[in-house]
Amino acid sequence: MSYSKIGVVGLGIMGAGIVEVFARSGYEVIGVAESEAAVEIGRGNLAKSLSRAVSKGKLSQNESDVITGRVTFGPEFKLLSDCDLVVEAAPEILSLKTSIFSQLDQVVKPSGILATNTSSLSVTQIAQATNRSGQVVGLHFFNPAPVQKFVEVIGTKISDPDVVASVTALGAALGKRTAQVTDKPGFIVNKLLLRYLNHAVQILDAGSASKEQLDAAMRELSNYPMGPCELLDLVGIDTCVEIMKTIHADTGLDIDIPAQGMLELVADGKMGRKTGSGFYDYSQSHEAPTDSDELIKAQVHLDLVTAYLGDCIAMQATGYASREDIDAGMKLGCGLPEGPFEVIERVGLSQVRKNQADLANRTGISSYQPLSL
Ligand code: 3HC
Repeated sequence: MSYSKIGVVGLGIMGAGIVEVFARSGYEVIGVAESEAAVEIGRGNLAKSLSRAVSKGKLSQNESDVITGRVTFGPEFKLLSDCDLVVEAAPEILSLKTSIFSQLDQVVKPSGILATNTSSLSVTQIAQATNRSGQVVGLHFFNPAPVQKFVEVIGTKISDPDVVASVTALGAALGKRTAQVTDKPGFIVNKLLLRYLNHAVQILDAGSASKEQLDAAMRELSNYPMGPCELLDLVGIDTCVEIMKTIHADTGLDIDIPAQGMLELVADGKMGRKTGSGFYDYSQSHEAPTDSDELIKAQVHLDLVTAYLGDCIAMQATGYASREDIDAGMKLGCGLPEGPFEVIERVGLSQVRKNQADLANRTGISSYQPLSL
């Protein structure tokens, strides 16, 4: 299988970012969205990201023009007919994605591979909307797609192994570290990351800390590039709610119920950066949140990190993902300075397990207990 022409359906922040990734790597790209207005937004998203790189001296204006020249935008699916691969990056609504896939199946040439950038939905169900389910995979990028150097390739039980292998090789050709994952809600990174983000909002909802304390704690005490509320705003709070619903439907655990604070913001139309406000207001420039209450910051930092490390241990122990893939996913997909298993090695497994037991006993939430060995 060889790839030269790539289609992208959906031109929001992720879709436009994926267009940029392929166009920067020299591929001819067709970007399709549902209306002329959505196409214009996509075109603007690409232009903004490229002009940011030009203004930082990372790209010359000429290179930026060459990249832009590789992309054709339009609102019609038929533009995608001779693409070797089409990546769908529409909102996290299963019925929308299955409808897109059945349309793609009609218009894309028979040898074309179809990929979904879904954050957590079942790739198997999406594949079943087509008559080429063996040629359907997940290809999951991280936001901002041109920056984060990790992609998950999700093969289903019905995916052709050669297709999974060739899409994985393509991911590597884009300069990304790849991990092959099976089709489980949240795959590797979102399962871990979204639980952590949801946990932070549960702490906020309980009134135990402010959003500034939560964000400052993770930035200052773990050197994360963003705190959890800032990251929810970047990813889109509506998207995060949908991911948590899918994870909760799978686990049935109370800790996976989408936190009230997220539901309220979504109901208010405050989805994060893309709508101009979420936990924070983006009408003015956003500065890193600060707070001087060191005790609260230390407590929320310990609780968030403890629960997260416990989830990483469980994910590896159940054989779902290797520690190498988990560490790479969290570092290269989310820009974290250390992978969770590097943290565990530094802190000591027995200390992490003790912290897990303390957290479970203090909160009365048994899901935080360490795995029995
Ligand atoms: N598009 C393109 N490039 C961007 C960008 C964007 N939206 N935002 C930032 N960048 C680039 C900048 O140009 C800069 O590039 P350079 O190093 O070549 O100059 C680099 O990223 C760093 O940018 P800044 O210095 O302006 O800003 P920061 O240092 O604060 O970094 C960040 C911004 C890269 C967003 C960083 O804060 C980060 O990594 N945050 C964590 C993001 C994260 O966790 N993403 C994963 C979310 S989960 C997900 O996406 C999965 C989905 O399914 C939900």
